[in-house]
Amino acid sequence: MEKVANLAKRRGFLFGGSDIYGGLQGTYDYGHYGALLKQRIKDAWLKANVQQMDNMVALDASILMHPKVWEASGHTANFSDALVDDRISKKRYRADHLIEEQLGMKVEGLSNEDLTKIFEENEIKTPEGKQADWTDVRSFNLMFKTHAGPIADDDAAIYLRPETAQGIFVDYKEVQATTRKKLPFGIAQIGKAFRNEITPGKFIFRLREFEQMEIEFFCKPDESKQWHEWWQKERMRWYVDVLGIDKKKLKLRPHTKDELSHYSAGTSDIDYEFPFGFSELEGIANRTDFDLKQHQEVSGKDLQYFDDASGKSFLPHVIEPSCGADRIVFAVLCDAYTEEPDEKGDVRTVLKLKPSIAPISAAILPLMKKPELTKLAGKVRDDLATDFMLDYDVTGSIGKRYRRQDEIGTPLCCTVDFDSLEDQAVTVRERDSQKQERVKIVELKDYLADKLS
Ligand code: GAP
Repeated sequence: MEKVANLAKRRGFLFGGSDIYGGLQGTYDYGHYGALLKQRIKDAWLKANVQQMDNMVALDASILMHPKVWEASGHTANFSDALVDDRISKKRYRADHLIEEQLGMKVEGLSNEDLTKIFEENEIKTPEGKQADWTDVRSFNLMFKTHAGPIADDDAAIYLRPETAQGIFVDYKEVQATTRKKLPFGIAQIGKAFRNEITPGKFIFRLREFEQMEIEFFCKPDESKQWHEWWQKERMRWYVDVLGIDKKKLKLRPHTKDELSHYSAGTSDIDYEFPFGFSELEGIANRTDFDLKQHQEVSGKDLQYFDDASGKSFLPHVIEPSCGADRIVFAVLCDAYTEEPDEKGDVRTVLKLKPSIAPISAAILPLMKKPELTKLAGKVRDDLATDFMLDYDVTGSIGKRYRRQDEIGTPLCCTVDFDSLEDQAVTVRERDSQKQERVKIVELKDYLADKLS
């Protein structure tokens, strides 16, 4: 993990948030290459789930929502972690994490009283291995609270959304009416979500501010099982075929009964083998009509769907494939990270990203900083920039510049040399094989498009 995190920092994919002030835990900023990589992943998700699917539409709902939304969804009452304080160090910890790590026990579904008892009956230490004086276990709500308007009292309290999903449920009828969709259909949304995680960490795996890509797929109640299975297969396919993630590092893991969220009749996670073990990338839940029923009750608005064929109105059931863009960036970086010996016996570090998601498609590299070369290279860059995301680099030896592009994951490097002035061609070097080919400048656009597709 350290190698991937170091590369991400060294090459400007990711920086710790507010670094010059000592950092803000649970936040990361995406630099140039990271922002482009994340955008490629989001574009690939939107393409697969909206552009290429006839029965899916897009939405971009507000982060701030009416506080009743969170009452209806159950987040005000249930969206909490069980915490325990050490009176000696004055530090707070996730009670379940300490028990699981030190006693190897799964504790999903246990009450705070049961967890407190486990602490009393076992000698549980701090994560640093120190003796502790534990308080009782208490629930701590993970939503970030703030106030709308100038008066900071409880009447003005609102929350930063902890999931994007509720925006979809609240807007579902309007989206359905305006897009004239019939069941089954889905709404896809990408957006920020916020959780006051007690133990953010493992690089960008657990953040306090992160981005979700969520689908709520509405269907007839008796078809929900079949659609749940369909989405599990489809989402697995996307990671392998579209992102190019190694199939062997992905696993579909059905939740046990104790693990299920309050809204779910069944959930399967897609886990990726991160450096610290298999962990969740995406959850695919059968949310039944839980959310629509709750919103209908709390808002007093009829949220039923009218089925022309049967003449009946009912609340659709919902399948929810929900993933985090940041976790996918992390998985993609881990999966692509490769070290291999070079011809000099040194190590060549390469990000073997699938070309379609690489942040930079091609680098344009004048062999030397000579005006005749930079002039021609600049023209090549200008001609290609409409169609491709490019890097233009003139500084350092050509070998070092190739290595830099290898670490960024750039699939192709185009070098403009002195022969280019004569033959109007460039040398194209392929990242993985390092094979080089001479390509005419007039044919370069088609050549790149072909190689990158
Ligand atoms: N609407 C359902 C929902 O929010 P979740 O399992 O809590 O379900 C869905 O979150 C996905 O969001 C996770 O699979 C993960 O990829 C991402 N995610 C959740 N919490 C996160 C965090 N603190 N940091 C980064 N990503 C997170």
